[in-house]
Amino acid sequence: MIYAGILAGGKGTRMGNVPMPKQFLSLQDKPIIIHTIEKFILNNRIEKILIAVPKDWVQHMKDLLQKYELAMSKIFVVPGGTDRNDTIMQIIDTIDSEFGVTDEDILITHDAVRPFLTHRIIEQNIEQGLQHDAVDTVIDAIDTIVVSEDGIYIADIPRRNHMYQGQTPQTFNISKLRTLYNDLSEEERNILTDAAKIFVMKGKKVALVNGELFNIKVTTPYDLNVANSILKGSIDK
Ligand code: CTP
Repeated sequence: MIYAGILAGGKGTRMGNVPMPKQFLSLQDKPIIIHTIEKFILNNRIEKILIAVPKDWVQHMKDLLQKYELAMSKIFVVPGGTDRNDTIMQIIDTIDSEFGVTDEDILITHDAVRPFLTHRIIEQNIEQGLQHDAVDTVIDAIDTIVVSEDGIYIADIPRRNHMYQGQTPQTFNISKLRTLYNDLSEEERNILTDAAKIFVMKGKKVALVNGELFNIKVTTPYDLNVANSILKGSIDK
């Protein structure tokens, strides 16, 4: 089966003093997370969509699905975890208990706060996800990346044509991800905050899908302004 997991279990602390986690803030006429969910609903190959939100926001999420007429049998709301990977594991545990995980099942994970992903990006994640254990969506690095270990002096300036910026979706073979994650030590779990990195660190191949410059993550109040401009069309997609 092809599952989507929408990661909305965060608190959005970098958004500053706002009344609710950023995924519930409005972009024009509706909450950011609703824009994102709508993109996944449009893909008929995705059989179940699991949305993970902070425990105290589960009812709010269910109310939003009703309000925007998206409450349908293929959508499930689950409580998120203590960090992003833990949220993915909560989604996988729900998949396992509700439907059972087979070796072929894949999960397209996506940040709820990236509402501008496209049908093409989802399709390519599915295609690559059916052929590889792990897939990451990236764009070419625009700025030169500078590495510093101490924040005082430069340690390295890697060649830019080998550098990419990570976006989401990230797509995984569910049972492979679960096995690798369960084998991590406590220390490794604290370092490996990106699920694709778990595969890289364990020597597994992660395939790349091209993202889009406009597939931004809404993190700060500035990003919210940019997102509104993208939606209004005053920034070209
Ligand atoms: N996320 C999640 N579960 C967590 C933490 C984060 O599902 N325990 C999700 C967020 O809701 C978001 C995505 O992961 O959609 C990307 O994370 P980020 O932008 O860092 O979100 P927050 O953790 O909410 O933001 P901040 O770091 O500013 O608190």
